[in-house]
Amino acid sequence: MYDFKIETGDAPAMYADLALALEGLTSGEPDAIANMANAAALIWETLPDLNWAGFYRNVGAELVVGPFQGRPACIRIPFGSGVCGAAAATQQVQRVDDVNAFPGHIACDAASASELVVPIVRDGELLAVLDLDSPRPGRFSADDEAGCVRLAEILARVL
Ligand code: SME
Repeated sequence: MYDFKIETGDAPAMYADLALALEGLTSGEPDAIANMANAAALIWETLPDLNWAGFYRNVGAELVVGPFQGRPACIRIPFGSGVCGAAAATQQVQRVDDVNAFPGHIACDAASASELVVPIVRDGELLAVLDLDSPRPGRFSADDEAGCVRLAEILARVL
């Protein structure tokens, strides 16, 4: 049984605990789907105010939905389309306070108001993106971005 009980009060401390938990869950496990599934569950269980948490995988230079928590979502996203596609095309984090103001945002769920998308890159190659959505505008801070970049670095070794 895994029971991580991570405190959410202080964001840097919370992400340090999340990183340790993710390392523990994924170390020595070579199956990418298993690792993304547990990562999505861990993030979903820990971070408040999310309505979607999960992955889009790079499959033949197109993003295809992977393990996630939340409502059923768009299945395929071309590189360059929406927030996820922008993160994939540029390999840059996209932290969007108001998704309705983002050109080409793809509304999988009308409840989404803000979004954080972090590319997962190994040796210059995009493996997947980590996508978090929130119903609260401006939900994601610089601390969230730094913490999720750390999670993406851990995942880059095990996808
Ligand atoms: N809103 C995303 C699409 C994926 S869903 O949020 C799960 C985007 O614009 O890329």
